Amino acid sequence: MNKKIFTNIKQLILTKDSGVKKGADMAQLDAIDNAWLSCADGFIDNSRSMQVLDDSHLQDAEVIDLKNKFVLPAWCDSHTHIVYAGSREREFVDRIHGMSYEEIAARGGGILNSAKALNLASEEYLYDCAAARLRTMILLGTGAIEIKSGYGLTVDGELKMLRVIQQLRKNFPITIKANFLGAHAMPLIYKENRKGYIDLIIDEMLPAIANERLADFVDVFCDRGFYSIEEANQILAAGKKYGLKPKIHANQLANIGAVQMAVAHNALSVDHCEHIGSEEVACLLPGNTMPTLLPSAAFFLGLHYQPARMMIDNGLPLALATDFNPGSSPSGSMAFVLSLACVKLKMFPEEAIVAATINSAAAMDCIATHGTLSKRQGCKFYSD
Ligand code: NIG
Ligand code: FE
Repeated sequence: MNKKIFTNIKQLILTKDSGVKKGADMAQLDAIDNAWLSCADGFIDNSRSMQVLDDSHLQDAEVIDLKNKFVLPAWCDSHTHIVYAGSREREFVDRIHGMSYEEIAARGGGILNSAKALNLASEEYLYDCAAARLRTMILLGTGAIEIKSGYGLTVDGELKMLRVIQQLRKNFPITIKANFLGAHAMPLIYKENRKGYIDLIIDEMLPAIANERLADFVDVFCDRGFYSIEEANQILAAGKKYGLKPKIHANQLANIGAVQMAVAHNALSVDHCEHIGSEEVACLLPGNTMPTLLPSAAFFLGLHYQPARMMIDNGLPLALATDFNPGSSPSGSMAFVLSLACVKLKMFPEEAIVAATINSAAAMDCIATHGTLSKRQGCKFYSD
């Protein structure tokens, strides 16, 4: 047995197998002061106060004295786009000149620029770039990540991205979930034939992805100027036939009813949520769909921030994620996301920690193994 025991922990955070935390409960960290934690064979097996540490706990264990440090669960980053081929700094400057994200997209830039670069890049190059990003994110404290496709927008490009994600999953010690986002932007050649591209997603991409078991989830950028409610309905229904659980980009640019549509599909999460009112809150309250806020995308695009305070005060759970991508959020730092959540969204630090751990684990369907320091949660060691 490979047993380790960590002693003299100033505070051990999220020690209970609490499940998703909602509303006022998001401020409860279930902490133990002056604690120890032990793990064996890759799982947490016990934690208590230092006052109840005896020789039987130390037996056959490697003892690591943490000398009064905090211990938190690793971050769960439930929304990222880290497989991409090049940066988009020109658009960054275009936005400073006054163009909006939507205007850049409408002239064929934005996601379509990333799609051009990705289709020209080799699988090896994409893997190397994404692996470098992932290594940095792990060193910043991320222990589980969801990664989307969506810069291919062709059968080959989408499969190439998902195969890169599969390789990352094989080679890295953290949990990785793959999300098929073929409906990220409309390729220019389908601009006058939207149905043609939806058919390509449903009739060609989804069967090929299912055949190679390349995805866990299906996503749609369901928003003004991107995909309509009706188109999203078709894609999510088709994805579900292959066992893919929906996670939706919703209400970032406008409220076109994407939250209600996602809840009707029992989606795991609705992500972005800049445009949320009382109807969306009422619709989310009884269900299991996790509202996931991506404040660094609002920061980099200069959009107004998500109404986190109103959502928590009305009893909703919230998750946080980086949305790491070359266009709207060029950062994989969960610490930055937590800072924005507190400074700009007025979330309390306890709420931000819960949103970035246990609730984000729920948003990526790995709550049984990630997001708390309770017994039977996974415990891995990583150094670069
Ligand atoms: O989550 N909103 C849509 N998709 C991404 C942006 C992707 C991009 O601009 O490349 C997002 O912000
Ligand atoms: Fe995104």
